[in-house]
Amino acid sequence: MNSKDQKVLVSTFEKEVYEGLTAFPKYLSSKYFYDEVGDKLFQQIMALPEYYLTRTEYEIFATHSTEIVRSFDKQKQGFDLIELGAGDGKKTKILLKDLLQQGLDFGYMPIDISQNAVDGLVNTLQNEMPDVFVQGQVGEYFEVLDRLKQLSTRKKVVMVLGSNIGNLLHSRAIQFLKKLCNAMNQDDLIFMGFDQKKHPQKVLDAYNDKTGVTAAFNKNVLTRINKELDGNFNLDKFMHWETYDPESGTAKSYLVSTEKQTVDINQLSLEVHFEAWESIHTEISQKYDDDIVKWLAKESGLKIINAFSDANQDYKNYLLAKA
Ligand SMILES: C[S@@+](CC[C@H](N)C(=O)[O-])C[C@H]1O[C@@H](n2cnc3c(N)ncnc32)[C@H](O)[C@@H]1O
Repeated sequence: MNSKDQKVLVSTFEKEVYEGLTAFPKYLSSKYFYDEVGDKLFQQIMALPEYYLTRTEYEIFATHSTEIVRSFDKQKQGFDLIELGAGDGKKTKILLKDLLQQGLDFGYMPIDISQNAVDGLVNTLQNEMPDVFVQGQVGEYFEVLDRLKQLSTRKKVVMVLGSNIGNLLHSRAIQFLKKLCNAMNQDDLIFMGFDQKKHPQKVLDAYNDKTGVTAAFNKNVLTRINKELDGNFNLDKFMHWETYDPESGTAKSYLVSTEKQTVDINQLSLEVHFEAWESIHTEISQKYDDDIVKWLAKESGLKIINAFSDANQDYKNYLLAKA
């Protein structure tokens, strides 16, 4: 690759695309999948027969939401439910409905890196559940954790659904959980979804559906570079590739260049060279078991106080508190 001339990189997107595509091996962050187009593709993914994650978490809430919600505020002191990476909030609405039914005093703060997702969720909630006090915010996980204490002075329940935590390698997940733990008061809680280890084929299929929606979702990061950074990626010259290592529990998504080629990203004054079959690593989707979650919690100064599972034990939501 070649930097055509010195260029001052302004946005985080510019900086991270530059860093990732000038590194060896190349990588891009999955957080850049999500814009108006990416959000729609992810909604299609959630409806795919292969994508069991959404259905299983939905089943857990449909079965256990009364108990889950009751455990959020046993002292009935009032609290703020802060959701990181909320997306379209479809499953969250089950919990919100139960919170209203139980007459609990709460506010809901959905936070997401996608402005489109936050706007969509706040609008639908205002129409569907006008009694919920909603304050949406755009933000990136780590940046939000830096200002978590200022976000709410009440008891906090920090929620992360959809196994979003699985987009972080264990070392990064521990940084995330430690930061979260440091920003928490003693009676604050974390409610977090962790997709469990299972038949490797089932995991692979979830990230490599037959209809190609996941491939289009993965390629949306290239579309965004084309649109927002004046790039000229030819999407047909990259293929989606998924791997799953049952030992580490790590599923990885790649975009693989099907031929030797050069791509220009004009706004970065960057020429990116690809050898035939060279890859860009774009996403990890970590799978867990109880021991791994216990270890992550211990390393981060947290403890598990309860867990809820679907009938198949494919997915679990853990309630965590400061150790
Ligand atoms: C896999 S989707 C899950 C959405 C939702 N939690 C659910 O379970 O349906 C991940 C969501 O997190 C958001 N997201 C991804 N990376 C993020 C980051 N680094 N900071 C904040 N939000 C992020 C995306 O925009 C997307 O809405």
